[in-house]
Amino acid sequence: MNKIKILIADDVKETRDIVKKIIEFEEDFEIVGEALDGEDAIEKIKRLKPDVVLMDINMPVLNGLEATERITSQFKEVIVIIMSVQGESEYLRKAMFYGAKEYIIKPFNYDTLVNTIKLTYDRYKSRKGSDIDLRDGKVITFFSSKGGVGKTTLAVNTAIELSKNKKVLLMDLDLMFGDISIFVDAVDAKTILDVVDEDNIESLSSVKSYLYNYNKNLDIMFAPKKPEASEYISREIVEKILNTLKKQYDVVVVDTGVNFSEVTLYILDICDYILFISNMDLASLKNTKLGLQVMRSLGYDKNKVKVVINRFKTDYGIGKKEAEEVFKESVFLTIADDEKTVINSINTGKPFIEGSKFLKSKIEKSIETLCRQLEI
Ligand SMILES: Nc1ncnc2c1ncn2[C@@H]1O[C@H](COP(=O)(O)OP(=O)(O)OP(=O)(O)O)[C@@H](O)[C@H]1O
Ligand SMILES: [Mg+2]
Repeated sequence: MNKIKILIADDVKETRDIVKKIIEFEEDFEIVGEALDGEDAIEKIKRLKPDVVLMDINMPVLNGLEATERITSQFKEVIVIIMSVQGESEYLRKAMFYGAKEYIIKPFNYDTLVNTIKLTYDRYKSRKGSDIDLRDGKVITFFSSKGGVGKTTLAVNTAIELSKNKKVLLMDLDLMFGDISIFVDAVDAKTILDVVDEDNIESLSSVKSYLYNYNKNLDIMFAPKKPEASEYISREIVEKILNTLKKQYDVVVVDTGVNFSEVTLYILDICDYILFISNMDLASLKNTKLGLQVMRSLGYDKNKVKVVINRFKTDYGIGKKEAEEVFKESVFLTIADDEKTVINSINTGKPFIEGSKFLKSKIEKSIETLCRQLEI
């Protein structure tokens, strides 16, 4: 077993010696260094990479409180345990607020010190072990009540655009006909069905091994390759996978199928935003209107459901205003019709948002606007 690496930060030599003596008896612990003040502790963390810092409060140069604040924001994987004397409760509260995980009151005995370190380490180890710094995981769902309106095209390109400055997970929850793997030219990659097949749903690291790393900020969970497999992916499974992964990402972008299946309803319920995609033809307008009524009956907030008209052009005598009248809802964004760019990008497996930085198509600009206007 790896030993728990400990750094002692205290300006009083006797305290450091007592701690050292106690810890030397413990097989699972290892003192990797001693620091005489907060500044010194920060320097040593960089070099010695301790798991735990035992931190005194009153120290010269940089006191334990400020040091704790800096350590917990700079080195998220390091656990700070405060050592303080009786009567410093105000400081203690502050230390915990600044991100210390636990405290011990001096003078402490052998058991208190050892148990506090062990318990605190165990409590936070699972997070550390998986190298997480927890994120907010806002969920954005692309949905439509009619097929073929551009959900997948928009979801894929939006996810890539967002990944330029955020950590993004793209989930293909069109469980029957999901085709994101084609859009990014990765048809042989693992899918959500493999997670279930191999019964590997319990831990974060195992679920992560089924993700396709599109770029350093974007991972993708693909849909099963065959429609009949969708029946093995229950709502509970999706919920478990999503909850396991969500906190690792700033944004989760979800593509859905045209249905109100249990899985779709679940994702619509828990997501932060629904981008309701429509086209301009009458059939699409009608279905969007009906779909929006369902959203209302489900009690979703107006701000949560955002109507996006894809393949927008005014050639057919219907404009944004007319569409808004039909929907009784304002339109969040319109996206240009650009067959050449879109079909070319799908056929080559290279999303159009990856195109030239200088010659941007209208549709690329719309995706950028979409990402800017979403409050994430
Ligand atoms: N802005 C656009 N301009 C031109 N063509 C587009 C645009 N957006 C999508 N398309 C075309 O529409 C077709 C359907 O797109 P896409 O697969 O993204 O829709 P979808 O809503 O995900 O469909 P499904 O319901 O089958 O999942 C594609 O062939 C794509 O080329
Ligand atoms: Mg699709």
